[in-house]
Amino acid sequence: MKETLQKIREEAVARIQASKSPEALNDVRVSVLGKKGELTALLKSMKDVAPEERPAFGQLVNDTRAEIERVLEDAKKHMDQIILEMKLKTEVIDVTLPAKKNQVGHRHPNTIALEEVERIFIGMGYEVIEGPEVEYDLYNFEKLNIPANHPAKDEQDTFYINKEIVLRTQTSPVQARTMEKGKLPIRMISPGRVFRSDEVDATHSPSFHQIEGLVIDKNITFADLKGTLEEFAKELFGEQTKTKFRPHHFPFTEPSAEVDVSCFKCGGKGCRFCKGSGWIEILGCGMVHPHVLEMCGIDPEEYTGFAFGVGLERIALLKYEIDDMRLLYENDIRFLRQF
Ligand code: DAH
Repeated sequence: MKETLQKIREEAVARIQASKSPEALNDVRVSVLGKKGELTALLKSMKDVAPEERPAFGQLVNDTRAEIERVLEDAKKHMDQIILEMKLKTEVIDVTLPAKKNQVGHRHPNTIALEEVERIFIGMGYEVIEGPEVEYDLYNFEKLNIPANHPAKDEQDTFYINKEIVLRTQTSPVQARTMEKGKLPIRMISPGRVFRSDEVDATHSPSFHQIEGLVIDKNITFADLKGTLEEFAKELFGEQTKTKFRPHHFPFTEPSAEVDVSCFKCGGKGCRFCKGSGWIEILGCGMVHPHVLEMCGIDPEEYTGFAFGVGLERIALLKYEIDDMRLLYENDIRFLRQF
């Protein structure tokens, strides 16, 4: 019996020392100390031991059990320590690494410019109104004094859905739509996307944006138009900005003008930015043509008004000194991030 105990102990210790994982240690525990383990089996055979030897034998079995438990416990502690050290080594967190930044987007230069323009006109009491991008020829051309076969139609060659429906070439149709509603007076701007069958280059795109403006009231004169647009230019480009009204022709306004602002880069002396002229063209405008008023149900004897149209990209390009319109559409984040 004694030899058997001795053997169990030696084998157990050897197995414990050879164990390479907590699972292997547990296997030893089960097979030696468990309910069906070797030592337990030995205790069960106590009945074969002479009664007088039983206490001493019992003691010996218990000592052996205690001894094996102690070796197991030590081995377990040692193993846990090694596992912990390995974990510490492999799961190192470098607290000096820079944190991962959350990439938050921001407004597109077009949007920034548009919000600036809206802010200026809302400050002067204007409403912001939207109109459809797919528009009737009637509103895009006819009601703006551009009848079929008018040469201005060629200039704004566009995408036709069918004979009556076009992708709008300008935001001006929103003028006709607003006047037709019959609510007077009108003070509105209407920003939006427009389309022309233009080739893409540094200053052209088949799809771009305009901001239309319209004021209709009693006793509106060209002086109101000038004052309003001068104020607009100053707010947008700075207090020192001068404005110049050049006679021009638009079918839906009479008289019509194009507006230049003094170059905010050189102050009007002439530079590369303004191509040496000291002036930069920013918009078209005029007094709403009496025939247009009539076609939209407004009595030109009672009401007058002015209108203007600004290219949004043009404002964004000027304001941020971008020299190629294509950059606004390519959505290269490295470019967009700058604004
Ligand atoms: N719609 C014109 C264009 O696309 C711009 C324009 C000029 C709008 C004069 C107006 C205006 O309202 O009065 O070229």
